[in-house]
Amino acid sequence: MAKKKSVRAESSRNGYAGDTVPESSITSVMVEDRVFPPESGFSAEARVKSIKEYRRLAKRAAADPESFWSGIAEELTWFRPWKNVLKWKPPAARWFTGGRTNMSYNCLDRHLDGWRRTKAAIIWEGEPGEVRTLTYGQLHHEVSKFANVLRSLGVKKGETVAIYMGMVPEAAIAMLACARIGAMHNVIFGGFSAEALRERINDSNAKALITQDGAFRRGTEVLLKDAADRALEGTPTIASTVVLRRTGSDVTMAAGRDHWWHELMASASAVCPAEPLDSEHPLYVLYTSGSTGKPKGIYHTLGGNMVWSYYTSRMVFDLRDEDIYWCTADIGWVTGHAYVVYGPLLNGATTLMYEGAPNWPEPDRFWDIIERHRVSIFYTAPTAIRSFMRWGESHPRRHDLTSLRLLGSVGEPINPEAWMWYRNVIGGDRCPIVDTWWQTETGGIMIAPLPGATPTKPGSATLPLPGIDADVVRRDGTSCKPNEGGYLVVKSPWPSMLRTIYGDDERFRKTYWSNYRGWYFTGDGARRDADGYFWIIGRVDDVVNVAGHRLGTAEIESALVSHRQVSEAAVVARPDEIKGNALIAFVTLKAEFTPSPELKEELRDHVGREIGHIAKPEEIRFADALPKTRSGKIMRRLLREIAVSGEIHGDMTTLEDLSSLEKLRDGEEE
Ligand code: WT7
Repeated sequence: MAKKKSVRAESSRNGYAGDTVPESSITSVMVEDRVFPPESGFSAEARVKSIKEYRRLAKRAAADPESFWSGIAEELTWFRPWKNVLKWKPPAARWFTGGRTNMSYNCLDRHLDGWRRTKAAIIWEGEPGEVRTLTYGQLHHEVSKFANVLRSLGVKKGETVAIYMGMVPEAAIAMLACARIGAMHNVIFGGFSAEALRERINDSNAKALITQDGAFRRGTEVLLKDAADRALEGTPTIASTVVLRRTGSDVTMAAGRDHWWHELMASASAVCPAEPLDSEHPLYVLYTSGSTGKPKGIYHTLGGNMVWSYYTSRMVFDLRDEDIYWCTADIGWVTGHAYVVYGPLLNGATTLMYEGAPNWPEPDRFWDIIERHRVSIFYTAPTAIRSFMRWGESHPRRHDLTSLRLLGSVGEPINPEAWMWYRNVIGGDRCPIVDTWWQTETGGIMIAPLPGATPTKPGSATLPLPGIDADVVRRDGTSCKPNEGGYLVVKSPWPSMLRTIYGDDERFRKTYWSNYRGWYFTGDGARRDADGYFWIIGRVDDVVNVAGHRLGTAEIESALVSHRQVSEAAVVARPDEIKGNALIAFVTLKAEFTPSPELKEELRDHVGREIGHIAKPEEIRFADALPKTRSGKIMRRLLREIAVSGEIHGDMTTLEDLSSLEKLRDGEEE
């Protein structure tokens, strides 16, 4: 394990330059002094029972990280032991080097010898209401068969398989089948458009695409195969597709390329031993927004990711064999990878998957599911919680939620009001809340309470997990004082850290490792309070968090500019009660076109087609010109101020043309 690096920013050129964020913007105005100690009954049964025990663990992990990490890894099955726990040459990390293992084996085969063979691995509920249960034995059978299907289509170890599906068990089966044969999966969220799908397929060189005819969502059908067909017009690497029949609607099947899932499965053998793979073998790539237009392929490898999904699920959710665990995330996000599929299955737990919308057919659907399936652990996002608050208490109140014993939150800071509501109305004042901070890049949870040990404070993700060396630092790398806002960094490597941005090592280095030498830069602003608790303030670059999803404003801008009438666009976020942030797009048109309400709608739809519905701006504002610096950089800070308050404060000296701003502020539109 590497020694801690000396505290120093690399250079002012690479230091977190203030051109996107003025230092003063990292000011946290939140004051919150409620503290909720864990209930003694919960602590007594928990894996970690007190804050003292947490501190002991954290201390032990910091003193000897290698023995700490290997202790966890040893709980899983390895076909060949590792030589070194860690090889660390920043920013290149290799974990459990020389070790051989398999994710699918550890999720499935490992549980088949004992009673868990007949235990529910996945309980699935479709939006129309059907329920399917797959035991560990059955899931193993399906995964083995599908792994053989992939092989029969010519998919080889190390190659990429794209998965563009809704929330159906087959999505998990496809992921586990890839992991079984050592193919890297690239799951693309089913809400993404054909264009977004194509870009992600091409960037990852995917050889095959797994999709379905359609998915049920809010009583209608999302036409996945249709979008896939449009994407596949420009994806030279895809040789074959497998199409699951879910909705039964008509689709076009291209002869030679497209195959039905059920037909291939009918003749596939169920014997497929898990391939022994190197610890650093690719597990998945998952695309996430960056601050330039192109999405980043976050690349994760097998051993470290497996160890961290296993360990964090155990510690943070205190997962037990008796639990019915439900994480509401879609499989297309990293939360769906680590905490719908891998984490719970590695622990032999029962994971619930639900296909549809939270308010279909009524706004009580989630509570109905919790009551009927006796869900004991529920993990969702603040944006969903705020929607539930708006829909009203009457919906959860109608249901028996006493099966719940633990609640979780992820995706963005949870405001104390939502936290309290979650605790009172959903948790019946009885369940601990784990507010979990992490990122696609971190592969798993990094900062979160241990539910039996950590006193919680509404709105704080509390303390780093044992083994995680997080800090809040100034631009020069020195640690911030209590309650001083700064940049969130991780100072030592951890097993599930991203290994690179797929195909772009240089961008990987620049984005995460150039601001502080040897430390991982998260891109988030934060502060620590006097107890050392972390309060995440949010992203410090031009990436915004909308409804729990990280969106690059540059990506949305480039989608807008691809419309033939648009000349320039700038997208900023405005705080929004439900979604966390709402997107406001400032748009200038080419000279020959004129603004109109119809054009606003057309532009919103255009973004929906280019990227997906979650990226549609809430509001479009037309402008004659955008405020720019003399060097031609759009001054987003000013646009943000206009979007938020309609007023501009602060420094405008770098602004090139003041008149553009005057017009924007007056809000003259069409
Ligand atoms: C960004 C990562 C983690 C999986 C879902 C999103 C924000 C995430 C929290 C939290 C405050 C949070 C951060 C982070 N974020 N969880 N508990 N408290 N902020 O993954 O799309 O990679 O986004 O989401 O800004 O950097 P992602």
